[in-house]
Amino acid sequence: MYHRFDAIVVGAGGAGLMAAMQLARTPGIRTAVISKLYPTRSHTGAAQGGIGAALGNLEEDHPEWHTFDTVKGGDYLVDQDAADIMCHEAVESVYELEHYGLPFSRTPEGKIDQRRFGGHTRNFGEGPVRRSCFAADRTGHMILQTLYQQCIKREVDFYSEFQLLDLIITDGVCCGLVVLSIKDGEIHVFHAKAILFATGGYGRAWKITSNALSNTGDGVAIAFRRGIPLEDMELYQFHPTGVYKLGILLTEGARGEGGILRNNDGERFTERYAPTLLDLAPRDMVSRFIYQEVKEGRGINGADYVHLDLTHLGADVVENKLPDLADFVRVYLGVDPVRELIPIQPTAHYAMGGIPTDVDGRVLVDEVNTVLPGFYAAGECACVSVHGANRLGTNSLVDIVVFGRRAGKHMASYVQQAGFTELPAGSDDESRRQVNALLSRESGESAAEIREGLQDEMMDKVSVVRSEQTLQHAQKTVRDLRDRFTRVAIQDRQTWYNSELLETLEVGYLLDLSESIIAGALARKESRGAHYREDYPERDDTNFLRHSLVFNTPDGLRIAQKPVDVSKFQPKERKY
Ligand code: FUM
Repeated sequence: MYHRFDAIVVGAGGAGLMAAMQLARTPGIRTAVISKLYPTRSHTGAAQGGIGAALGNLEEDHPEWHTFDTVKGGDYLVDQDAADIMCHEAVESVYELEHYGLPFSRTPEGKIDQRRFGGHTRNFGEGPVRRSCFAADRTGHMILQTLYQQCIKREVDFYSEFQLLDLIITDGVCCGLVVLSIKDGEIHVFHAKAILFATGGYGRAWKITSNALSNTGDGVAIAFRRGIPLEDMELYQFHPTGVYKLGILLTEGARGEGGILRNNDGERFTERYAPTLLDLAPRDMVSRFIYQEVKEGRGINGADYVHLDLTHLGADVVENKLPDLADFVRVYLGVDPVRELIPIQPTAHYAMGGIPTDVDGRVLVDEVNTVLPGFYAAGECACVSVHGANRLGTNSLVDIVVFGRRAGKHMASYVQQAGFTELPAGSDDESRRQVNALLSRESGESAAEIREGLQDEMMDKVSVVRSEQTLQHAQKTVRDLRDRFTRVAIQDRQTWYNSELLETLEVGYLLDLSESIIAGALARKESRGAHYREDYPERDDTNFLRHSLVFNTPDGLRIAQKPVDVSKFQPKERKY
C-alpha cells in the first residue's frame, strides 16, 4: 500500500509528538506519525524523576549554571553551543508544558515544585540545586499523555503498530519509508518530503536494563544500514539505581529527596568518592562507585549489589513524592521502602550517542557536518550532542521537548519550500525479500538464543568498566552471533501480530548497534564519562576531545573523529 504525506514522524515518544505538534499547527502540511506501539506506551512514559529547567522556584538558579553542569557532567564532550540552546530553551519548554495542562507537583505557594538531581549545582559547582521540575515520579508519563492529547486536538494522523523496515534515500535526498503493518503483515510504502526519526534508544542490547522491550534501536540501525554514520556510540549510560537483577528504574529523584546509598557495612560510601555532591554525583561516577564497592567485597553479603536507603525520609515523602518507586519495590521485591532497604544495581539506561544532527534536528552525514536533505532525528536516537560522555538526569526530557520542537519547526519550513522527490522503482523490494526469507526458512538458529547471548556478553564485557581484553572478547562474540543470525529461522508463519518476526528483526538491529558500540569503545583509548577503560584510566583531551563517528562501509566499520564545540567552558578535571 502506498501513502503520501508532506512530513512523517517515526516514533510517538516525547520528541516525536513534540515535532508532530509543530508540524500540525502549520496550515497545509499533511503530517503522519508512525509508531510500533500505541503512542502512550512509548518509553518517554518511563522517565520518572523530572525535567531540568532553571526556573529558580525554590532557590536562585540560571540557565547558564545548567549549561555548565551539562557540559561538566558530560565530561566536556558536549557541544557547548547546543547545550546552551537546550538549557535556555528548557525554561520556556517547561512553561509550555504547564500551559498544555501537565499536572506538575506544586510548592505550597502553587509554583512548579523542583527537586535535586545528580550533577545539577548552583553557581558553577558549589553544591546541589533544586532544578528538576516533576510530577511526583511520573514526569515522563505525564509529558507523554499531555503531548498525545495535544496531537489529538490538532488532528495528527497516527499509524500505530507499524514496524519500520527501511529508509528510502535517493539522489542524496531522504524521501520515504518502508513499514510493516503489525496487525496484518502488509508492507506499506510512505512517501514524504521530510522524515523525522524519533525512534528512541537501544538499552535492550544489555541484560540488565531500565529500557522497555521495544527499545531495540530500530531507527538508529536502519539509518546506519543506509549509510548514515553514528556518533559517540561507545558512550552508553548505566543508571546507578535499577532494581537488583531486574533493572527496573528507581528514580534518581529518590536521592534528590534525600535517599542514601549504603554498602554491606551500612556505610554511605559516596562520602569517600564525591565529598561535595555525595549520592548526587553524576550517574557515570555513582555507577562506578558501586562497581568499586562490589569489587572490593562491600556489596551486600558479598554479592553484586548495594542498598538504596529511604527509611529516614518518612512515609509522607515516599508515598507522595515517590509513589511509583514505592509500588515497584513492593510489587517486584516485596520490600517496603518506608521501613526496609532496597537492593539496587546499575542498569543500562541511556544512549548518549546516535544519529548525528545539528540543533534543528537535521541529520549530518560526515566529519564536516554535511546535511542529508529531508532527514531529521530527535530524542534518544539522535546525537546533537548535548549529553557528551554522560547525560545528567532530567536532561533527556529537556532534550526531547527542546529538540523535538526545533526539529518540527525546521521540518515545517523545509516542507513548505521542498517538492517531492520521486521514489525509485522497487524501493520496498529489499524489505519484502527480508521478511519473506524469515517467514519461509524451514529451520535454523533461534533469535531468542542469539539475543540472550548478546545481552549476556554486553552486560559482562561492555558495561560500566571496559578494557581492550573485554572489548575484543565482545567483538568476537558479536561477530559469531551475527554469523548465526544469517541462519535465523522463526516458527510462527502467521502474518498478523507475528511477534516472533518482530523480535527477530529487532535482534538484527541490536547486533548492528552492539558492533558499532564495541568498535567505538575499542577506538576510544581513554576514560571519559560513562566510557571507563581500566587500561586507559585517564581522560586524554589531546587525542580524544573529539566526537567519534562509525561508518558502515562495504569493507567493514570505519571510525573517524570530528571536533567538539568548546566555545564556553574550557575542559577541566571533573571533581564533585
Ligand atoms: O532517575 C530518573 O528519574 C531518570 C531520569 C532520567 O533519566 O533523566
